[in-house]
Amino acid sequence: MKNMNATASAPAKVILFGEHFVVYGTPALLAALNRRTTARARAIEQETIAIRSDIGVSADFAHGGVRIRQGGEAAKTVLEAIHNAVQRGLGAGCKGIQLDLKSSIPAGVGLGSSAAACVAAVAAVDSLYGRHGRRWICKSAVESERIIHGNSSGADCYVSTYGGILRYSKGRYSRVETPKKLPLVVSSTGIAHSTAALVKGVRRFREADPGRFSEFAAEARTICDSATKHLRAGNVKQLGPLMLRNHELLREIGVSHEKSEELVELALQAGALGAKITGAGGGGAVISLAASRADASEIARKVRRKGYLSIEAEIDSEGLRRQPALRRFSEEMSGAPA
Ligand code: PMV
Repeated sequence: MKNMNATASAPAKVILFGEHFVVYGTPALLAALNRRTTARARAIEQETIAIRSDIGVSADFAHGGVRIRQGGEAAKTVLEAIHNAVQRGLGAGCKGIQLDLKSSIPAGVGLGSSAAACVAAVAAVDSLYGRHGRRWICKSAVESERIIHGNSSGADCYVSTYGGILRYSKGRYSRVETPKKLPLVVSSTGIAHSTAALVKGVRRFREADPGRFSEFAAEARTICDSATKHLRAGNVKQLGPLMLRNHELLREIGVSHEKSEELVELALQAGALGAKITGAGGGGAVISLAASRADASEIARKVRRKGYLSIEAEIDSEGLRRQPALRRFSEEMSGAPA
Protein backbone atom coordinates (compact mmCIF):
# COMPACT_ATOMS: atom_id res chain seq x y z
CA MET A 1 0.00 0.00 0.00
CA LYS A 2 1.40 3.38 -1.02
CA ASN A 3 -0.89 5.67 0.99
CA MET A 4 -2.80 5.41 4.27
CA ASN A 5 -5.43 7.94 3.16
CA ALA A 6 -6.96 8.76 -0.19
CA THR A 7 -9.86 10.83 -1.40
CA ALA A 8 -11.94 10.72 -4.57
CA SER A 9 -15.03 12.54 -5.71
CA ALA A 10 -17.47 11.98 -8.54
CA PRO A 11 -20.27 14.14 -9.96
CA ALA A 12 -24.03 13.75 -10.44
CA LYS A 13 -25.62 13.26 -13.85
CA VAL A 14 -28.66 14.43 -15.77
CA ILE A 15 -30.15 13.36 -19.07
CA LEU A 16 -30.36 16.47 -21.24
CA PHE A 17 -32.17 14.87 -24.20
CA GLY A 18 -33.42 11.51 -25.42
CA GLU A 19 -34.43 9.45 -22.36
CA HIS A 20 -36.76 6.49 -22.97
CA PHE A 21 -36.35 6.68 -26.76
CA VAL A 22 -32.70 5.73 -26.18
CA VAL A 23 -33.92 2.29 -25.08
CA TYR A 24 -35.04 1.78 -28.72
CA GLY A 25 -31.80 2.86 -30.34
CA THR A 26 -32.07 6.64 -30.69
CA PRO A 27 -29.26 8.79 -29.24
CA ALA A 28 -29.31 10.50 -25.84
CA LEU A 29 -27.31 13.39 -24.40
CA LEU A 30 -26.17 13.03 -20.81
CA ALA A 31 -24.20 15.46 -18.68
CA ALA A 32 -22.29 15.51 -15.43
CA LEU A 33 -23.36 18.19 -12.95
CA ASN A 34 -21.27 20.17 -10.49
CA ARG A 35 -22.72 18.36 -7.47
CA ARG A 36 -20.40 15.74 -6.04
CA THR A 37 -20.05 12.80 -3.71
CA THR A 38 -16.68 12.65 -1.99
CA ALA A 39 -15.27 9.44 -0.55
CA ARG A 40 -12.34 9.37 1.86
CA ALA A 41 -10.69 5.99 2.41
CA ARG A 42 -8.42 5.28 5.33
CA ALA A 43 -6.61 2.02 6.01
CA ILE A 44 -7.43 0.70 9.53
CA GLU A 45 -6.08 -2.11 11.69
CA GLN A 46 -9.46 -3.80 12.35
CA GLU A 47 -10.72 -6.38 9.85
CA THR A 48 -13.74 -4.26 9.08
CA ILE A 49 -15.10 -2.18 6.25
CA ALA A 50 -16.71 0.70 8.10
CA ILE A 51 -18.91 2.95 5.96
CA ARG A 52 -20.01 6.31 7.33
CA SER A 53 -21.88 9.02 5.45
CA ASP A 54 -23.88 12.20 5.60
CA ILE A 55 -26.56 10.65 3.36
CA GLY A 56 -28.23 8.65 6.13
CA VAL A 57 -26.50 5.31 5.57
CA SER A 58 -23.77 3.76 7.75
CA ALA A 59 -22.69 0.21 8.48
CA ASP A 60 -19.85 -2.05 9.53
CA PHE A 61 -19.08 -5.07 7.39
CA ALA A 62 -16.95 -7.71 9.14
CA HIS A 63 -16.47 -11.50 9.06
CA GLY A 64 -19.12 -11.99 6.36
CA GLY A 65 -21.80 -10.09 8.30
CA VAL A 66 -23.16 -6.58 8.36
CA ARG A 67 -24.20 -4.30 11.20
CA ILE A 68 -26.30 -1.43 9.91
CA ARG A 69 -25.78 1.66 12.04
CA GLN A 70 -27.86 4.16 10.13
CA GLY A 71 -30.68 3.89 7.57
CA GLY A 72 -32.17 0.55 8.67
CA GLU A 73 -33.21 -2.19 6.23
CA ALA A 74 -34.02 0.38 3.54
CA ALA A 75 -30.33 1.33 3.38
CA LYS A 76 -29.13 -2.25 2.96
CA THR A 77 -28.96 -2.36 -0.85
CA VAL A 78 -27.11 0.95 -1.15
CA LEU A 79 -24.69 -0.10 1.60
CA GLU A 80 -24.09 -3.44 -0.10
CA ALA A 81 -23.27 -1.67 -3.36
CA ILE A 82 -20.84 0.69 -1.62
CA HIS A 83 -19.29 -2.23 0.29
CA ASN A 84 -18.89 -4.08 -2.99
CA ALA A 85 -17.22 -0.99 -4.49
CA VAL A 86 -14.77 -0.84 -1.57
CA GLN A 87 -13.93 -4.52 -1.97
CA ARG A 88 -13.22 -4.07 -5.67
CA GLY A 89 -10.73 -1.32 -4.86
CA LEU A 90 -8.97 -3.30 -2.09
CA GLY A 91 -5.52 -4.74 -2.64
CA ALA A 92 -3.36 -7.16 -0.68
CA GLY A 93 -1.96 -6.16 2.71
CA CYS A 94 -4.92 -4.12 3.86
CA LYS A 95 -6.83 -5.27 6.93
CA GLY A 96 -9.74 -2.90 6.90
CA ILE A 97 -11.06 0.37 5.54
CA GLN A 98 -12.89 3.29 6.99
CA LEU A 99 -14.85 4.97 4.19
CA ASP A 100 -16.43 8.38 4.78
CA LEU A 101 -18.89 9.66 2.20
CA LYS A 102 -20.09 13.23 1.89
CA SER A 103 -22.56 14.22 -0.78
CA SER A 104 -24.18 17.31 -2.24
CA ILE A 105 -26.30 15.24 -4.65
CA PRO A 106 -29.98 14.92 -3.72
CA ALA A 107 -30.76 11.17 -3.54
CA GLY A 108 -33.64 9.35 -5.24
CA VAL A 109 -34.28 12.03 -7.85
CA GLY A 110 -32.55 10.35 -10.80
CA LEU A 111 -29.37 12.40 -10.47
CA GLY A 112 -27.17 9.32 -10.27
CA SER A 113 -26.32 9.67 -6.58
CA SER A 114 -25.67 5.95 -6.13
CA ALA A 115 -23.44 5.83 -9.22
CA ALA A 116 -21.41 8.78 -7.95
CA ALA A 117 -21.04 7.04 -4.56
CA CYS A 118 -19.83 3.82 -6.21
CA VAL A 119 -17.37 5.62 -8.53
CA ALA A 120 -15.99 7.69 -5.64
CA ALA A 121 -15.76 4.66 -3.31
CA VAL A 122 -13.90 2.40 -5.77
CA ALA A 123 -11.58 5.25 -6.76
CA ALA A 124 -10.79 6.32 -3.17
CA VAL A 125 -9.87 2.78 -2.11
CA ASP A 126 -7.95 2.12 -5.34
CA SER A 127 -6.03 5.36 -4.76
CA LEU A 128 -4.53 3.84 -1.59
CA TYR A 129 -2.53 1.73 -4.03
CA GLY A 130 -2.55 4.05 -7.06
CA ARG A 131 -3.10 1.20 -9.46
CA HIS A 132 -5.93 1.74 -11.89
CA GLY A 133 -7.12 4.27 -14.43
CA ARG A 134 -10.57 5.61 -15.12
CA ARG A 135 -11.63 2.81 -17.43
CA TRP A 136 -11.16 0.20 -14.69
CA ILE A 137 -12.77 2.42 -12.03
CA CYS A 138 -15.81 2.95 -14.23
CA LYS A 139 -16.20 -0.75 -15.06
CA SER A 140 -15.91 -1.71 -11.37
CA ALA A 141 -18.41 0.94 -10.29
CA VAL A 142 -20.91 -0.24 -12.94
CA GLU A 143 -20.70 -3.75 -11.50
CA SER A 144 -21.20 -2.50 -7.91
CA GLU A 145 -24.05 -0.21 -8.90
CA ARG A 146 -25.88 -3.15 -10.51
CA ILE A 147 -26.59 -4.33 -6.94
CA ILE A 148 -28.95 -1.35 -6.73
CA HIS A 149 -30.22 -0.87 -10.25
CA GLY A 150 -30.16 -4.40 -11.68
CA ASN A 151 -28.92 -4.75 -15.21
CA SER A 152 -28.54 -1.03 -15.88
CA SER A 153 -26.73 0.35 -18.90
CA GLY A 154 -23.99 1.78 -16.69
CA ALA A 155 -24.50 5.23 -18.19
CA ASP A 156 -24.67 6.95 -14.78
CA CYS A 157 -21.26 5.60 -13.75
CA TYR A 158 -19.84 6.45 -17.16
CA VAL A 159 -20.94 10.09 -17.01
CA SER A 160 -19.83 10.36 -13.39
CA THR A 161 -16.38 9.00 -14.21
CA TYR A 162 -15.66 11.00 -17.36
CA GLY A 163 -17.66 14.19 -16.78
CA GLY A 164 -18.77 16.66 -19.45
CA ILE A 165 -21.56 16.14 -21.95
CA LEU A 166 -21.71 12.72 -23.53
CA ARG A 167 -23.71 11.57 -26.48
CA TYR A 168 -24.73 7.96 -26.17
CA SER A 169 -25.67 6.11 -29.31
CA LYS A 170 -25.69 2.41 -30.20
CA GLY A 171 -23.60 1.41 -27.21
CA ARG A 172 -20.96 4.08 -27.77
CA TYR A 173 -20.19 7.36 -26.04
CA SER A 174 -18.72 10.44 -27.64
CA ARG A 175 -17.89 13.71 -25.98
CA VAL A 176 -19.78 16.87 -26.95
CA GLU A 177 -17.79 20.01 -26.17
CA THR A 178 -19.61 23.29 -25.78
CA PRO A 179 -17.95 26.71 -25.64
CA LYS A 180 -20.71 28.11 -23.42
CA LYS A 181 -21.77 27.58 -19.82
CA LEU A 182 -25.18 26.00 -19.37
CA PRO A 183 -26.89 27.52 -16.34
CA LEU A 184 -29.25 24.73 -15.27
CA VAL A 185 -31.82 24.30 -12.55
CA VAL A 186 -32.78 20.86 -11.29
CA SER A 187 -36.11 20.68 -9.47
CA SER A 188 -37.60 17.65 -7.81
CA THR A 189 -41.29 16.70 -7.83
CA GLY A 190 -40.61 14.87 -4.57
CA ILE A 191 -42.23 11.80 -6.09
CA ALA A 192 -40.07 8.70 -6.16
CA HIS A 193 -40.33 6.70 -9.36
CA SER A 194 -39.47 3.22 -10.51
CA THR A 195 -37.41 3.50 -13.69
CA ALA A 196 -38.13 -0.17 -14.52
CA ALA A 197 -41.92 0.33 -14.25
CA LEU A 198 -41.80 3.45 -16.41
CA VAL A 199 -39.67 1.74 -19.07
CA LYS A 200 -42.24 -1.10 -19.07
CA GLY A 201 -45.09 1.40 -19.49
CA VAL A 202 -43.36 2.91 -22.53
CA ARG A 203 -42.91 -0.58 -23.98
CA ARG A 204 -46.68 -1.13 -23.66
CA PHE A 205 -47.34 2.22 -25.37
CA ARG A 206 -45.05 1.17 -28.24
CA GLU A 207 -46.71 -2.22 -28.59
CA ALA A 208 -50.16 -0.64 -28.64
CA ASP A 209 -49.26 2.01 -31.22
CA PRO A 210 -46.01 1.21 -33.02
CA GLY A 211 -46.60 3.76 -35.78
CA ARG A 212 -47.04 6.69 -33.41
CA PHE A 213 -44.13 5.58 -31.26
CA SER A 214 -41.77 5.40 -34.22
CA GLU A 215 -42.80 8.92 -35.30
CA PHE A 216 -42.01 10.18 -31.78
CA ALA A 217 -38.71 8.29 -31.74
CA ALA A 218 -37.72 9.79 -35.11
CA GLU A 219 -38.46 13.24 -33.74
CA ALA A 220 -36.48 12.50 -30.57
CA ARG A 221 -33.51 11.61 -32.78
CA THR A 222 -33.83 14.88 -34.72
CA ILE A 223 -34.02 16.81 -31.42
CA CYS A 224 -30.89 15.11 -30.13
CA ASP A 225 -29.01 15.77 -33.38
CA SER A 226 -30.02 19.46 -33.39
CA ALA A 227 -29.15 19.80 -29.70
CA THR A 228 -25.70 18.29 -30.36
CA LYS A 229 -25.07 20.86 -33.13
CA HIS A 230 -26.30 23.79 -31.03
CA LEU A 231 -24.21 22.70 -28.05
CA ARG A 232 -21.08 22.50 -30.22
CA ALA A 233 -21.82 25.92 -31.71
CA GLY A 234 -22.66 27.45 -28.31
CA ASN A 235 -26.22 28.39 -29.38
CA VAL A 236 -27.63 28.05 -25.88
CA LYS A 237 -30.90 29.83 -26.67
CA GLN A 238 -31.79 27.33 -29.37
CA LEU A 239 -31.73 24.52 -26.82
CA GLY A 240 -34.80 25.84 -24.97
CA PRO A 241 -37.44 25.01 -27.61
CA LEU A 242 -35.79 21.62 -28.18
CA MET A 243 -36.14 20.83 -24.47
CA LEU A 244 -39.80 21.79 -24.54
CA ARG A 245 -40.52 19.62 -27.57
CA ASN A 246 -38.62 16.73 -25.99
CA HIS A 247 -40.76 17.18 -22.90
CA GLU A 248 -43.94 17.04 -25.01
CA LEU A 249 -42.81 13.78 -26.56
CA LEU A 250 -42.23 12.35 -23.08
CA ARG A 251 -45.69 13.51 -22.07
CA GLU A 252 -47.15 11.81 -25.18
CA ILE A 253 -45.61 8.46 -24.26
CA GLY A 254 -47.07 8.71 -20.76
CA VAL A 255 -44.14 9.40 -18.45
CA SER A 256 -45.03 12.89 -17.30
CA HIS A 257 -46.79 13.69 -14.06
CA GLU A 258 -48.94 16.62 -12.98
CA LYS A 259 -46.13 17.79 -10.71
CA SER A 260 -43.60 17.61 -13.57
CA GLU A 261 -46.00 19.71 -15.66
CA GLU A 262 -46.28 22.20 -12.80
CA LEU A 263 -42.48 22.41 -12.48
CA VAL A 264 -42.03 22.95 -16.23
CA GLU A 265 -44.68 25.68 -16.15
CA LEU A 266 -43.16 27.34 -13.07
CA ALA A 267 -39.71 27.39 -14.68
CA LEU A 268 -41.05 28.94 -17.89
CA GLN A 269 -42.99 31.58 -15.98
CA ALA A 270 -39.80 32.37 -14.08
CA GLY A 271 -37.97 32.99 -17.36
CA ALA A 272 -36.40 29.63 -18.30
CA LEU A 273 -35.39 29.15 -21.96
CA GLY A 274 -36.75 25.62 -21.79
CA ALA A 275 -37.57 22.85 -19.35
CA LYS A 276 -38.24 19.14 -19.41
CA ILE A 277 -38.39 15.97 -17.41
CA THR A 278 -34.94 14.50 -16.90
CA GLY A 279 -34.62 10.74 -16.58
CA ALA A 280 -37.42 8.25 -16.29
CA GLY A 281 -40.21 10.68 -15.28
CA GLY A 282 -43.33 9.54 -13.40
CA GLY A 283 -42.38 12.24 -10.91
CA GLY A 284 -38.63 12.45 -10.40
CA ALA A 285 -36.87 15.58 -11.58
CA VAL A 286 -37.26 18.38 -14.10
CA ILE A 287 -34.35 20.37 -15.59
CA SER A 288 -34.62 23.92 -16.80
CA LEU A 289 -32.13 25.92 -18.81
CA ALA A 290 -31.59 29.59 -18.00
CA ALA A 291 -30.01 32.36 -20.05
CA SER A 292 -27.65 33.33 -17.21
CA ARG A 293 -26.63 32.28 -13.72
CA ALA A 294 -28.67 35.14 -12.30
CA ASP A 295 -31.74 33.82 -14.15
CA ALA A 296 -31.04 30.31 -12.87
CA SER A 297 -30.96 31.59 -9.26
CA GLU A 298 -34.23 33.37 -9.83
CA ILE A 299 -35.89 30.26 -11.30
CA ALA A 300 -34.65 28.04 -8.46
CA ARG A 301 -35.80 30.61 -5.89
CA LYS A 302 -39.30 30.80 -7.40
CA VAL A 303 -39.63 27.03 -7.61
CA ARG A 304 -38.47 26.66 -3.98
CA ARG A 305 -41.05 29.23 -2.94
CA LYS A 306 -43.72 26.77 -4.14
CA GLY A 307 -42.28 24.18 -1.76
CA TYR A 308 -40.17 22.10 -4.15
CA LEU A 309 -36.50 21.16 -3.86
CA SER A 310 -34.70 23.14 -6.56
CA ILE A 311 -30.97 23.55 -7.08
CA GLU A 312 -28.80 25.48 -9.51
CA ALA A 313 -26.21 23.48 -11.37
CA GLU A 314 -23.73 23.65 -14.20
CA ILE A 315 -21.99 21.07 -16.30
CA ASP A 316 -18.98 19.44 -14.63
CA SER A 317 -16.35 18.81 -17.26
CA GLU A 318 -13.90 16.99 -15.00
CA GLY A 319 -15.63 13.81 -13.82
CA LEU A 320 -13.71 11.68 -11.34
CA ARG A 321 -11.21 13.61 -9.24
CA ARG A 322 -8.77 11.92 -6.89
CA GLN A 323 -6.11 12.64 -4.38
CA PRO A 324 -3.40 11.41 -4.60
CA ALA A 325 -3.79 11.51 -8.37
CA LEU A 326 -2.68 8.62 -10.52
CA ARG A 327 0.76 9.47 -11.88
CA ARG A 328 0.38 7.55 -15.11
CA PHE A 329 -1.62 10.20 -16.89
CA SER A 330 -1.90 8.19 -20.11
CA GLU A 331 -3.59 5.35 -18.24
CA GLU A 332 -5.86 7.77 -16.40
CA MET A 333 -7.08 9.07 -19.74
CA SER A 334 -7.36 5.74 -21.51
CA GLY A 335 -10.89 4.72 -22.35
CA ALA A 336 -12.09 8.31 -22.25
CA PRO A 337 -14.67 8.94 -24.93
CA ALA A 338 -13.32 10.48 -28.12
O1 PMV B 1 -34.24 7.31 -14.01
P1 PMV B 1 -32.96 7.67 -14.63
O2 PMV B 1 -32.59 9.09 -14.52
O3 PMV B 1 -31.84 6.75 -14.26
O4 PMV B 1 -33.12 7.53 -16.24
C1 PMV B 1 -33.56 6.39 -16.90
C2 PMV B 1 -33.37 6.62 -18.37
C3 PMV B 1 -34.27 5.77 -19.27
O5 PMV B 1 -34.01 6.17 -20.61
C4 PMV B 1 -35.73 5.98 -18.97
C5 PMV B 1 -33.97 4.29 -19.12
C6 PMV B 1 -32.63 3.84 -19.67
O6 PMV B 1 -32.18 2.75 -19.27
O7 PMV B 1 -32.05 4.51 -20.54
